[in-house]
Amino acid sequence: MCITVRLLRILPLVLLISRSPARTTASNSIVKRSYIASSSNFAATSASCNSKIKMPEKRTAPAISSLEDFERKLPGYLNENTTLALLLDYDGTLAAIADSPKNTYMTVAMEKLLNQLAIHPKIFLAMISGRALNDVQSRVGIPGITYAGNHGLEIESGNGTRHDYPLPAKLQQHYAPMVVELVENVQKNGAWVEDKTVSLTYHYRDVPADLSGALKQQAIRIIESHGYLANQAHDAIEAKPPVNWHKGEAALLILKDKFGPNWADEIKVIFAGDDNTDEDAMRSLQGVSKSFRVSADPEIQTYADFRLTSQNVVEDLLRWIRKTYKD
Ligand SMILES: *[C@@H]1O[C@H](CO)[C@@H](O)[C@H](O)[C@H]1NC(C)=O
Ligand SMILES: *[C@@H]1O[C@H](CO)[C@@H](O)[C@H](O)[C@H]1NC(C)=O
Ligand SMILES: [Mg+2]
Repeated sequence: MCITVRLLRILPLVLLISRSPARTTASNSIVKRSYIASSSNFAATSASCNSKIKMPEKRTAPAISSLEDFERKLPGYLNENTTLALLLDYDGTLAAIADSPKNTYMTVAMEKLLNQLAIHPKIFLAMISGRALNDVQSRVGIPGITYAGNHGLEIESGNGTRHDYPLPAKLQQHYAPMVVELVENVQKNGAWVEDKTVSLTYHYRDVPADLSGALKQQAIRIIESHGYLANQAHDAIEAKPPVNWHKGEAALLILKDKFGPNWADEIKVIFAGDDNTDEDAMRSLQGVSKSFRVSADPEIQTYADFRLTSQNVVEDLLRWIRKTYKD
């Protein structure tokens, strides 16, 4: 009975269908209704099984700090004959965090490794980022792979198929006025609004310390008055639509779309990310992947299987994969 829980988790994803320009609003709302119906179905089932299934929990994870560590701690996980789905965050994972998201780049070595892995026939590569879809696509710049932007609200697969999470119309109507109100009122003293088309980030890193508190509070008020969630990020506030869709749901959708409902029995999965929004994917993929949280903090609580002690170790992760998946 409880074995069905994982299947039901994946069920709502079937109902999220790709958007084509011809699709009408009416059919969009049908998609949304079936999605909600099957989600509550899942909630009921998992609640009734709660006593028996082991729910994922955050804890400290064993550290990996070198290429040799991967080989020592994960012997035999990779096999050249088994397809590997490699799902990666971008900022803070592949590219070091910079003073502005506009100045974030991968090292030449990282870029080369990623490009080599991307074209390997046994490797499926997907980038899952908080950036806007077109932003992460142009920054990574590898054609033919899958990209998810806005924490999975927009997804484009290598063949051009798009999935857009069906946001409630009322929420969508509030987006543009929210951007205008933020720009007019709090885009000043070095603060700026990063418009990502379905969610936005208000950056205040460069604001003088005596002004930033008040500006930030005003930004939060504006965001919340439009029905969006205001989440604290690094020197920034993220305005996200209040929907139950995140990197974890996006990862499951991507894997199911590509490999079918039995993907977990057929492929190996690796996920790496560096912040809280990546924990959603680590939780969703726990037990059916190996996941890696990039963090220098030995006490950090995570759903990941391992902690990578610095962003440089991500390069070792790619090197370890490359040693198995050669040309
Ligand atoms: C992969 O398959 C080839 C051909 O069947 C075989 O020779 C090789 O030993 C396999 N590799 C592993 C690691 O199982
Ligand atoms: C395009 O890729 C998606 C995701 O892998 C897949 O579900 C879909 O069937 C593909 N479409 C075509 C026309 O190949
Ligand atoms: Mg990140």
